[in-house]
Amino acid sequence: MFTLNQGMVQEACAYIRQQTNRVPQVGLILGSGLGVLADYIEEAVTIQYENIPHFPRSTVEGHAGELMIGTVGGVDVVLMKGRFHMYEGYGPEMTAFPVRVMKELGVTKLLVTNAAGGVNTSYQPGDLMLISDHLNLTGRNPLIGANDAAFGPRFPDMSEAYSRRLRDLAKSVAAGKGFPLQEGVYAGLLGPNYETPAEIRMLRTLGADAVGMSTVSEVIVARHTGIEVLGISCISNMAAGILDQPLSHDEVMETTEMVKEKFLGLVLAVIPQM
Ligand code: 6GU
Repeated sequence: MFTLNQGMVQEACAYIRQQTNRVPQVGLILGSGLGVLADYIEEAVTIQYENIPHFPRSTVEGHAGELMIGTVGGVDVVLMKGRFHMYEGYGPEMTAFPVRVMKELGVTKLLVTNAAGGVNTSYQPGDLMLISDHLNLTGRNPLIGANDAAFGPRFPDMSEAYSRRLRDLAKSVAAGKGFPLQEGVYAGLLGPNYETPAEIRMLRTLGADAVGMSTVSEVIVARHTGIEVLGISCISNMAAGILDQPLSHDEVMETTEMVKEKFLGLVLAVIPQM
């Protein structure tokens, strides 16, 4: 079985450190259509994923493949423009490899964003949802295999996977700006097909408010390694069986485009206070 090791993480980190002296405190992972935040990084150094040792490559439309290191509101950040999904064929440990690299670079706080389908019928496309917790329904786990104690504990606690402190911060920033913000549980599935209506009813029964194909493995690794996490979903469409219409990636991209001002307003105000 393939396992990640500290040497791979260190080699990736060493290459990145040759490109910049900045020590990022905050990591940013941007979901489908939410890469616009990259335009607001100042003094950015951009590194192609393909040049970073051991880094996977993005294969999905709407996901670029660049790491950017710079500042947002005076805070040093490292931003992943485009992420890796298990449906692309990567193992869960590879989808979360960049989180290991972020930790090695100095990151202590992570903002993860995604486009997700609304399962909670009171949601609407275009809503932003603070992730309060997740359901890992991928059937996979990035921590399987021998545990490297240098990365974190064998049995990491997940009782506050999404930091209460950071959620409270996001809520107060949103309230100050007059942005409504939903809060709910994100169900992470493997994909790549969108769920059936029966699966969506099942997810609702299980307590999910939104559903997507990313985030959970990155957050599991972040928590394993002691990084504090803030998660925000953009509800890009209602999940199957709620509205009488088919789902498409085009709709996901259209909604994230529509919501981008609100999304930017929120995250640009939150990041400096994280
Ligand atoms: Cl409805 N399902 C999943 N798994 N991912 C999504 C989605 C739905 N909408 C956006 N991303």
